[in-house]
Amino acid sequence: EFKPLVFSGVQPTGNLHLGNYLGAIRKFVALQENNDCIYCVVDLHALTAQLVHEDMQTQIRSITAAFLAAGIDPQKHIVFNQSQVPQHAELAWIFNCVARIGWMNRMTQFKDKAGKDREQASLGLYAYPSLMAADILVYRATHVPVGEDQKQHLELARDIAMKFNLDFHDKIVPTGLGVDIKVGEEPVDAYFPMVEPLIDGPAPRVMSLKDGTKKMSKSDPSDLSRINLMDDQDAISKKIRKAKTDPDALPSEVDGLKGRPEADNLVGIFAALADKPKADVLAEFGGQQFSVFKPALIDLAVEVLAPMNTEMRKLMEDPGHIDAVLRDGGARARARAETTMNEVRDIIGF
Ligand code: ADP
Ligand code: NA
Repeated sequence: EFKPLVFSGVQPTGNLHLGNYLGAIRKFVALQENNDCIYCVVDLHALTAQLVHEDMQTQIRSITAAFLAAGIDPQKHIVFNQSQVPQHAELAWIFNCVARIGWMNRMTQFKDKAGKDREQASLGLYAYPSLMAADILVYRATHVPVGEDQKQHLELARDIAMKFNLDFHDKIVPTGLGVDIKVGEEPVDAYFPMVEPLIDGPAPRVMSLKDGTKKMSKSDPSDLSRINLMDDQDAISKKIRKAKTDPDALPSEVDGLKGRPEADNLVGIFAALADKPKADVLAEFGGQQFSVFKPALIDLAVEVLAPMNTEMRKLMEDPGHIDAVLRDGGARARARAETTMNEVRDIIGF
């Protein structure tokens, strides 16, 4: 068995929103308790959609501040930014040669982000999932907490790991890990683990507050569509009050949310913030109107987000401290990534 190791990343692009928090960062915090965790500000990925960033440093610090404010412990675990560890890019190049164009062509995020004029998308945007596989596998991480939008990319990471293991099976030094793969009937040793996505929870895909069929996203032009982690109490309150709903009362059972995407979304957000199942929320609010539910949701969102917001602002006043955290994490990450890359270079024959 591979030793359990958690890895995940967040791009330093735009303001973090409630979807990033509930789909990712909140899980990062919970997983620290029983795991070795590596959390990364993926600045190399930030170049894929837009090359020039006037405020890259500030963005990197702000994601780091969110990690720390949410409760990630950078001493027990590792917090760093990706560009400090060149081994990510080195392994990504090897993975570019492992992955097949047909696999990349199936990636729905590329299609969404590239838009209509695909010829003008960067090669980096196309190869993004290969770098993401490298981010994870350069530590031979086994568990990746992400939102549901990342599910397909994690399947690709497994395909890449599997093909690498098979293609190099006679070069991989036996480790007794011959668990997942076979050549013919023979089990062989795997160098890279099959990563497990951790996507569970009541809000794996937080939807826009304006349109329950689109995911909440940094890139939505309407600020009313999302709750930003830096929003103050008034903004949170206004956005939830204006959130799209239907005229019916809340159902008393989860099945009753079917075909009601906006209600389902708000109940999911409540459940995730309260850290309980949607069924418990409906047991409390079933039969009530949104005029009752929304104020309760506002109170809960403010209760959870306000302390983090205050802490983030405080941390941002001391960029030197944040940079020191990243440098320390970067050095520790680099040492671990280099151990893997030494072995990978041997396997390949460099
Ligand atoms: P974004 O998708 O907002 O540009 P990232 O790509 O950096 O942000 O994603 C950071 C993490 O937040 C990923 O694990 C992603 O799955 C998660 N995430 C992003 N949007 C949502 C959402 N609407 N609901 C749940 N999780 C989300
Ligand atoms: Na994303």
